[in-house]
Amino acid sequence: MNKPLDPITLPAAADAAVSQWPDVDSLYRRFDALVKQPIRPLKREALNKVMGYFDERCQGSKRLAEEAKKFIPGGVQHNLAFNHPFPLAIAQAKGAHLTDVDGNRYIDFLQAGGPTLLGSNHPAIREQVNRILDDCGPVTGLLHEYEVKLAQLVCDVMPSVDMVRLLGSGTEAVMAAVRLARAYTGKKWVIKIGGAYHGWSDQLVYGMRLPGTGRLEAVGIPRGATANTQESPPNNLDALRRRLQINRLRGGTAAIMVEPFGPESGTRPVHPDFNRQLRKLCDEFDALLIFDEVVTGFRAGMGGAQGYFNVMPDITVLGKCLTGGYPMAGAIGGRKDVMQLLAGGIGTTARRAFVGGTLSANPLSCVAGYYALIEARKLNAPALAGRAGDRMRKGLEEIINRRGLPYVAYNLGSIVHLQTSGVLLLDTSNPLKLLRARNEAKSRKHMMEEMGAAYTAHGLITLAGSRIYTSLADTDDVIDDALERFDAVFKLV
Ligand SMILES: Cc1ncc(COP(=O)(O)O)c(C=O)c1O
Repeated sequence: MNKPLDPITLPAAADAAVSQWPDVDSLYRRFDALVKQPIRPLKREALNKVMGYFDERCQGSKRLAEEAKKFIPGGVQHNLAFNHPFPLAIAQAKGAHLTDVDGNRYIDFLQAGGPTLLGSNHPAIREQVNRILDDCGPVTGLLHEYEVKLAQLVCDVMPSVDMVRLLGSGTEAVMAAVRLARAYTGKKWVIKIGGAYHGWSDQLVYGMRLPGTGRLEAVGIPRGATANTQESPPNNLDALRRRLQINRLRGGTAAIMVEPFGPESGTRPVHPDFNRQLRKLCDEFDALLIFDEVVTGFRAGMGGAQGYFNVMPDITVLGKCLTGGYPMAGAIGGRKDVMQLLAGGIGTTARRAFVGGTLSANPLSCVAGYYALIEARKLNAPALAGRAGDRMRKGLEEIINRRGLPYVAYNLGSIVHLQTSGVLLLDTSNPLKLLRARNEAKSRKHMMEEMGAAYTAHGLITLAGSRIYTSLADTDDVIDDALERFDAVFKLV
């Protein structure tokens, strides 16, 4: 952060999904300390034991994984799925737990990558989905009552959203948001924050995971497709201002798009005033502000991160929790005058930003989303999942301190980060550091995989070994059980 920012008051009440925003400056100092020292992986003999678990107890998963490799590239289709030493095959999911095909039970902190805020396979959603499937099946291509109900509910709870357009996924919604911003402003540049993930569309596989990496992962994507995408370093308003100034001389900035908690679901968390300053910058330069709330939408509170920070974007991207874990989780919402440019249907002759999707807004997704959000609101799920995240973070901090480990645990409500290898925190702020980071990332990534495997062998499923999504199903007993298991893993370091 280059300039001191204005003080800001955030909701700190126990009923907020995020009870307390972390002290960001102190966190960054701890990240720095973590990546400046050599990695602290599991002891090698302990690792052998961990691997033994997979050989002895997961034969069914292993067989299926081998079969999958013959027909599915790499044998795995989910980017978040753990594939070290091989992906587990899951037979049952319920609440806070998963059971694999060999009958092993796990506490589920992947939560499918975030959408199941109520816990897995919640009956209140499933029963309503079954009812609609009996009535009209999954799709008709025509208007359905729940399509309207879901849109109305989203407009009700998301403070900046007057209108909603449902789409197929977060990636699709991001594509639509960028197109809409360009159509509305008539400008071309889109600025994202380095390290943020906005799905896998051609224009946004740019500066992913680590800031400053630009087209590193843009394999199969022509230069033209990313030619109007720019990245700017996290938490750096001066750098953003400079980009906006230069862009003003070259056709103007259509939008700044951010994950409002910070890149990669807050892996590099924002300064609490960052979003408010962004809003001001966008107004000054006539650019739209896009909040990608695919992760924070409903998890950071029913009003998302925009409600939490009280900062109103022009366009909001939604996904994940929007349909409670059911398929077709994607939407954009926003101000009426902006959103009207998306008017659909074959009768429309007005100038519009074209978006589509045969299965968009199908009754199955809409009824699932409607009841997922109704239940979340009724049960106070964002806040309760947030309290579970607080309990988890406190417990992890206690274990890390007691064992004298350099690891860093922090949480933004129900999004708990557990950085052991620091692979996503490497310093990439200049080309030399970037080169060094690219070399170092391999060993650190491998350590993260080993940690993930060790968690799994101790009955814990995490997201990529470094993130923990808590849900409404995570009672104190579940969290305390999980903490004992984490302690058993950290004992092996
Ligand atoms: C912030 C953010 N935006 C967009 C996406 C893409 O969403 P989807 O996987 O539904 O395409 C993700 C997915 O993880 C995400 O975390």
